[in-house]
Amino acid sequence: MRSDPVASPAAAGAAPRHVAVIMDGNGRWARQRHRPRAAGHQAGVRAAREVVRVCRDRKVEVLTLFAFSQENWQRPANEVGLLMELFVRTLGREIESLHRNEVRIRFIGDHAPFPPRLRELMQKAEARTAGNGRLTLAIAAGYGGQWDILQAARAVCAAGEPFSAANLEARLNTFGLPHPDLLIRTGGERRISNFLIWQMAYAELYFTDTLWPDFREADFDAALAWYAGRDRRFGRVAEQA
Ligand code: IPE
Ligand code: IPE
Ligand code: MG
Repeated sequence: MRSDPVASPAAAGAAPRHVAVIMDGNGRWARQRHRPRAAGHQAGVRAAREVVRVCRDRKVEVLTLFAFSQENWQRPANEVGLLMELFVRTLGREIESLHRNEVRIRFIGDHAPFPPRLRELMQKAEARTAGNGRLTLAIAAGYGGQWDILQAARAVCAAGEPFSAANLEARLNTFGLPHPDLLIRTGGERRISNFLIWQMAYAELYFTDTLWPDFREADFDAALAWYAGRDRRFGRVAEQA
């Protein structure tokens, strides 16, 4: 019998505790408008801001946004540079309002390759908002699910501890957060793209063709309504769950 429980999933019928979002479709949104990809990323920031507000209003505990994957480092240098600029500008501008709204910011991913200026801002944002408890906003930047599992496994090895789900969990970047209950991916692709692969073992997967910059409160609520209709059995039969 399995002894390690799935990390505190939301109870059946309850609202999701943790919503994770793959914010995809910025480039296509821009192309449709004959504008540079940068315009799509810029519009994507507005959508992210709205979803943060809505999660806070709906009493979601944790929102994880996939902002930049490890694989995204392979994009053309000018797009990567532009995204770094956008992260710096957005973070610098948003820290205080997030703090006022009692949002706690946490970054997950391998930040070693990020520009020092951005890393400083990330640390500053985490420190500034560390005492907040209204909503935890986890921003996945330079994140890769396989990397996370590997670095956690190496840490367990280095500590000389036995391999157990609990010991591995304790070293994942998401340590202390409940596992995602609901994954939303915009932009029409139906794949995970190396996101929270360990943590999403029992997430409900919601895919929409809406491009990320077009994603609004009503779209988020449609995902929540869909989620509310799921029967989360976790391997049991419906009568037990
Ligand atoms: C998602 O939008 C944002 C990032 C990956 C940074 P994309 O840039 O992947 O947009 P599409 O998929 O090309 O439309
Ligand atoms: C996934 O989007 C990563 C982020 C949203 C940050 P991509 O657009 O990079 O995903 P793939 O490569 O098409 O799967
Ligand atoms: Mg994409």
